[in-house]
This record gives sequence, structure tokens and C-alpha cells, in this order.
Amino acid sequence: MILIYPEFNEYNALRLSKLLGINAFPILSRTFPNGEVLARIPRADEIKGNKVLLYFPTYPNTNVRLQLLYQSLEIINHYNAISIDLLIPYFPYSRQDKRFLKGESLSLKLQLEIFNALNVSKLITVNPHNEDALKKFSGDIEVIPMNLFHNLLEIVLRLVGDEKVFLVAPDMGRCEDVSLLAEKMGCKYLCLEKIRDRYTGEVTINIGVSINKNYRKAIVVDDEISTGGTISKASEVLKKQGVHDIYVAAVHLLLTGNALEKLSKSGALAIFGTNTVDNPFVVLNIEDKVAEFYKKDIHV
Ligand code: R5P
Repeated sequence: MILIYPEFNEYNALRLSKLLGINAFPILSRTFPNGEVLARIPRADEIKGNKVLLYFPTYPNTNVRLQLLYQSLEIINHYNAISIDLLIPYFPYSRQDKRFLKGESLSLKLQLEIFNALNVSKLITVNPHNEDALKKFSGDIEVIPMNLFHNLLEIVLRLVGDEKVFLVAPDMGRCEDVSLLAEKMGCKYLCLEKIRDRYTGEVTINIGVSINKNYRKAIVVDDEISTGGTISKASEVLKKQGVHDIYVAAVHLLLTGNALEKLSKSGALAIFGTNTVDNPFVVLNIEDKVAEFYKKDIHV
């Protein structure tokens, strides 16, 4: 197997190639004056007869990166790879897993149709927003979702101390994950109810119960933080209930716009996450987990 990666992902890709003991080749790219992009794999000749692991983060600059990803897949097909495993740590367009409003595109399904057409055989991704939807639309692609909640939470609990700490799901979509985590970790948990206005994106959070006053330390757990709207509203609600120490653990820290400002104003003390996207709050690198998976399940 060989590993192929875009230049902007060199650091993480080389770490993974070392862990797997396989060669790694870069994808170069250029941008034309009209904004179009072009991918090139200088060592494309070495693809023939090999299985390829393509490690291609699509965030940030998602739309341009996706175009480069499609072109890279086209090159890898042209040079006759035996098979293509695609590692996308944060899966793009995954929140659009249904037509929320009449006439909207089901863009998650479209992404998967494109990857099917480009002969991706395995899709490895970390904590997809909705695993069932990803599998439903995956066609011939074998989807391998890596769930890092447990690993992340273990680290966070070591860092913040586990005395009288409880886990919080900021919405019902995360409630099952959080209840399973709480059971494994031996903590209490609470699921909040989130309502998002589909036109404005505005979030409202309801708590529904009063929190036992012995529990003053919470970790809010989510798959991703984008605008920070969800977590900051959840923190405000918890603060009002007298919870002093609020920590945040999320797998994908996109932190768009003024997310950090919102989070700190809402009273969150610290943020912890993984390196599925570049950010300053990484406590867990995904490459070790990907390497473990390959060493266990697949002959590289
Ligand atoms: C949504 O249902 C997800 O699980 C996250 O809660 C959401 O994507 C976070 O987005 P934001 O930070 O913009 O509220």
C-alpha cells in the first residue's frame, strides 16, 4: 500500500506513513488566474499495481479541496491503483443528511455518489455527524466510521479530574453517544433539547430538569463545534443552574467566525478536541487510531 496526500496535509500524512511503514507521495496543486485548480501527482507512475490510501482532509476551504480531491481520485484511477481507501477525517456536507426544507439539495448523498463514481472502495472517517445516513447513501463503498468519543473523553477526564463530573449532550442527536459514554466512564449524564431555526440558524436550548447541587462540574460533549452557537447556549443554560466548571469536548473543532469569543463569554473554561481539522486545542491525534485500525484489520 502507498499513501498519497495533498501538500497541505504533509505533517499528519508523514506521521501516518511512518506508523504504517509505507511510502508516501504528495499531490501538488496550482491555481489558475480564473480561480480554477489543478492537481498533479509527480510520482503517479508508482501507483500502478498498488493499493492506495488517500489521506485528504477537506476542511477548511472545503469546496476547493473537494475539487482537488476529485482530480486526485481521477489521477489515481488513471494510473491503475488496485484499490482506493479514502481517509477524510471530517466528512464534508454531512450535516445536510436530509432535505430539511422543501427543494434543498441532499448534498451528503451527492458526495457519496461522486466517490462511488470515482471508485473509492473504503471510506474512513471520524465521528460522522450521522453514521446511519452515511451508510445509507454509501452504495458500493465500505464505510469505516472511527468513533473517537471514548478516547477523547478518557483524556479529558484525566485532565479535568473525574470527581463529581457529569457529561452533557447539547442536543438529542448526541444523547445516545453521551449516555453510552457516561455508562462506560461511570459518570452521570444529562441530555439537553436543542431547537435550531432552519432559516436563521438561531439555536435555543431547553434543560427540562434542575441539576443536583452536588454536581458542579460538567463536560459538554459534541461531535463538532462550528459557530459555537450550540455549545455556548448549552453552557449558559448550565451556568444558570449553578454549574461552575464547564469544559467542552468535541471531535471536530471547526471554530468558525467568532466561535471562540462566544464560548469564552458563555463561561466555558477549556476546550478539548482532536486533529481532524487544524486547531489549537488538540489532545488526541487521529493517526495513531487509523494506524491501529490498519494493523489490525487490513494487510498494508
Ligand atoms: C449538530 O446537530 C451537531 O451535532 C453540532 O451540535 C453542531 O453542528 C454544532 O454547530 P454550531 O457550533 O454551529 O452550533
